[in-house]
Amino acid sequence: TDIQKGGYEHFMLKEIHEEPDVVKKTIDSLMQNNLLDLLNTMPNLKQYDQIHIIACGSAMYAGMIAKSLIESRARIHVDCICASEYRYANPIYTGNTLAIFISQSGETADTIAALQLAKANDVATLAIVNVIGSTIARDADHVIYTKAGPEICVATTKAYCTQVAVLSLLACYLSYVHGHMQDDEVMQLSKEIKTLPKLMQQLIEKDYSAFAKKIYQHNDVFFIGRGLDYSLSMEGSLKLKEISYIHSEAYAAGELKHGTISLIEEGTPVIALASDEDLYEKTISNIKEVKARGAYVLLIISDDLQIAHDGYDDILRIPKTDKLIQAILGVIPLQLLAYEIARLRGCEIDQPRNLAKSVTVE
Ligand code: G6P
Repeated sequence: TDIQKGGYEHFMLKEIHEEPDVVKKTIDSLMQNNLLDLLNTMPNLKQYDQIHIIACGSAMYAGMIAKSLIESRARIHVDCICASEYRYANPIYTGNTLAIFISQSGETADTIAALQLAKANDVATLAIVNVIGSTIARDADHVIYTKAGPEICVATTKAYCTQVAVLSLLACYLSYVHGHMQDDEVMQLSKEIKTLPKLMQQLIEKDYSAFAKKIYQHNDVFFIGRGLDYSLSMEGSLKLKEISYIHSEAYAAGELKHGTISLIEEGTPVIALASDEDLYEKTISNIKEVKARGAYVLLIISDDLQIAHDGYDDILRIPKTDKLIQAILGVIPLQLLAYEIARLRGCEIDQPRNLAKSVTVE
């Protein structure tokens, strides 16, 4: 396995380093020249007026990103639900519902059952899957493959990135076919999408160990953010819990004061995400609330936004892109931070206790 790890200490680190390449492959498979290619490479999904996104774990958190992108840009109602709930929820379908299933393995039992439920109700189904020929890929009406390649580490990193890439392109496609994205934006965004692998690489090369050292001995960590940053917080928090065994919570930044802020003590780490230019000022005021209670704040903010030096303890800048693709960058520091923290704690990073790569029983 040392050879398979390609010189990296863990598969997780190797797989994070593969992210620029696999995201590029995934994007290239759908878009050679510009976003208009999606009109040919995506299944025809124009007719649907309601979308259900169903998945488990990180795949569901990728779905949360898609929900906010599709609702805000394509103006289609989206529900994003974990498969174990969906399958028993007696979901409500309109005559034009599309059900999207996201799964790395394509074999997750709850997601398969949810797919069968949608099919039994004659609902159109689209699978976004990594493993070719897997059950979910075979059973759905349409499939779009993520091109992450085999993922060994139990905690997903590169597969999640490729899921977010496909879902971002899907949001672009739906915005365009519903008349909410004009041709000039299509061209501008197409160019930006091509720069993603390079920007991802820059983020992967940064050193996160100094931040990890300030966090790894704590028992509780909070992630806060609004909008897209909230969805990203959930994945960041899950990654940390999975591999470092530190308890953490992701909170919508504005909701903190309605209860959870009582848990903030002197030194409690709060990882605050503020990449959304429309909401960051609101998040900054929530950061002040936790800092006033003694929190250590690591602020992750896009490089075009200004903030006063007393508004944080440490700062990590990420490149600014269009909101439609920003999450693909934003997750990288969260993955590497979780990795560095788990490493400092001496955890079995590639095989966390109690977890399986693919859960094929209910
Ligand atoms: C397991 C894994 C998670 C994963 C989830 C969904 O619980 O430990 O990392 O996100 O299953 O897996 P899938 O293969 O459907 O994406």
